[in-house]
Amino acid sequence: MRKPIIAGNWKMNKIRPAAVELAQGLVDRLKDVSGVEVVLCPPFTALREVAKSIEGSSLALGAQNMYHQPSGAYTGEVSGPMLVDLGCKYVIIGHSERREYFKEDNALINLKVKAALSYGLLPILCVGEKLFEREAGKAEEVVYDHLTGGLEGIAHEEMSRIVIAYEPVWAIGTGKTATPEDAEAMHLFIRKTLTQMYDRELARGVRIQYGGSVKPGNIDVLMAEPDIDGALVGGASLDLNSFARIVRFEANS
Ligand code: PGA
Repeated sequence: MRKPIIAGNWKMNKIRPAAVELAQGLVDRLKDVSGVEVVLCPPFTALREVAKSIEGSSLALGAQNMYHQPSGAYTGEVSGPMLVDLGCKYVIIGHSERREYFKEDNALINLKVKAALSYGLLPILCVGEKLFEREAGKAEEVVYDHLTGGLEGIAHEEMSRIVIAYEPVWAIGTGKTATPEDAEAMHLFIRKTLTQMYDRELARGVRIQYGGSVKPGNIDVLMAEPDIDGALVGGASLDLNSFARIVRFEANS
């Protein structure tokens, strides 16, 4: 059985007081939730404060990015050991905004995934096509490329520690969500690809999140799909009521 995982990607939002307020509110509102893993991914600057706020709760901490080198002359970067030191369990890697604005490619993303694993962090590897790629019938090709590129050289036992997030770029922050059927079809394709790369048993065990305009109003139908194991939530994770409702998706309430 795959345990559902709902992660909030706060992106470049919230200074510390607002971050603490949201984290404390969530701890309070989600006290009784079991059977769903909840991960908060605040900006680097709020990680420590949020870590303190969620201490002793079932909520986990994640970062939104990391650099693959452990330390050194890399101005402006943050390493895996630094994230571990702050209490992170997860790290988002290869988000489409990193790919688009910071020119991250599969080779760099692959280095980051490997580095994260080597420090005991659990990577959430993001994959997903852009609108023109979907319209050109290339969605699967792009996702295949992101998966095989991002996971190159990752051993079987390491793969079981990775979460995949399927995020069609055209659905991120646009209010447009993939239909549950389209999302499910891509999740199945991802599982098929993982079967080819590893084996069926492993592919069945990997958790695949959907991301892209997930809201209280669409989480239930998305989570009803058999291969959607959770969500990576951007905008709606910034609001206490919205995120709490998303965590309490129908099958879980
Ligand atoms: P969104 O972002 O929920 O605001 O569309 C999702 C993401 O980028 O992870």
